[in-house]
Amino acid sequence: MKSPDARATVFLGGGRITSALIAGLRLRGYRRPIIVHDRHAAKLTQLKRNYDVAVEPDLRCAVDQAHLLIIAVRPDGVSVLLSAIGTIQRPITAISLAAGMPLAKLRARLGPPVRWARAMPSPVCRSGRGLTAVTFEPALPRVARHEVKQLFEKVGQVIEIPESRFDAFTVTYSASHGYHALAALAGAAEKLGLDRRTAITAAAHALADGIIAWREGKVSLNQLLREAATPGGTAATVLAAMTSAGYESAIARGLRAGITRTKKTARLV
Ligand SMILES: NC(=O)c1ccc[n+]([C@@H]2O[C@H](COP(=O)([O-])OP(=O)(O)OC[C@H]3O[C@@H](n4cnc5c(N)ncnc54)[C@H](OP(=O)(O)O)[C@@H]3O)[C@@H](O)[C@H]2O)c1
Repeated sequence: MKSPDARATVFLGGGRITSALIAGLRLRGYRRPIIVHDRHAAKLTQLKRNYDVAVEPDLRCAVDQAHLLIIAVRPDGVSVLLSAIGTIQRPITAISLAAGMPLAKLRARLGPPVRWARAMPSPVCRSGRGLTAVTFEPALPRVARHEVKQLFEKVGQVIEIPESRFDAFTVTYSASHGYHALAALAGAAEKLGLDRRTAITAAAHALADGIIAWREGKVSLNQLLREAATPGGTAATVLAAMTSAGYESAIARGLRAGITRTKKTARLV
C-alpha cells in the first residue's frame, strides 16, 4: 500500500476546469503527482500531452491512488460518478467543484471515512491569479483543511466561507461577468462608430484599469467613483442613464436567476 505522501492529487473529470487548474498548478510548480480520470480517452491524451500529468482510464485505480480526490464532473453527473466509486475504505479528502451540490448530498452518496470539502475556483486559475472559495464539512480535520487551502493557494487567493453563502459566491464569482461586461461595453462603443479594435481596447482599459486601481487598496470604491465621474459631467451622465435603464437591477436579476438554478441543481442531484 502507498504511503499518503506518495499518493496523488486525482481529478475525476478532465474537462474545462480541470484543464485550467492543472495549467495553473503546473505554472506554480505544484509538486504532488497529478492523475486525471475521464471517460474520454482523447481528453486524457490531450491533458497528458499538454501538462505531463498521469492519466488513468480506470476509475477504481484512479481513486485508489488519491490523496486528494477532486470531483470535477458537471453537477448532474456527480451522483452517477459517486455511485460508480461505490465505497472507499480509507480516510480521504474529497473536494467537489460542482456548483449547487451541497455537502450533505455528497456525504449521503459517499460517506465516512471520506471527508468532504467544496471549492469554487474559476478558469482564471490557469494564470495562477485566480480566486477560490472553499467550505468544509465539520468533520474534516484541520490538517486536511489546510491541504485543501494549500492546493488552491497555488493558483490564487483562497477564501473560506460558510456553505450557506456558497451559492451567492458561485453566481457572483465568474470570469464570465468580466467577459460579458467587456463584450457589452465594446459592442455599445462600436455602435457609436469606434472600430472593433479601438472599442475593445477602450472597454478593456475602462474595466481593468478601474479594478486595478481599486485592488491597490489605497482609495475606497466610492472615492474612486467620485474621482472618475465628476458630478454633472459626461461619465456621471452615462452612469445615471445606465442606472435608470436598469443596470443594477439587471445584475441583481441575473444573480437571482443563478441562485434559482443552483437551488434546482441541489433538488435534482
Ligand atoms: N468550468 C468552470 O468554469 C467551472 C468553475 C468552477 C466549478 N466548475 C464545476 O466543475 C465541474 C466540471 O465543470 P467543467 O466545466 O470542467 O465540465 P466539463 O468541461 O464538462 O468536464 C467534465 C468532464 O468529466 C467527464 N465526465 C462526466 N461524468 C463522468 C464519469 N462518470 N466518468 C468519467 N468522466 C466523466 C465529462 O465527460 P462528458 O462530456 O461525456 O460528460 C467531461 O469530460 C462542474 O461541476 C462545475 O460546476 C466549473
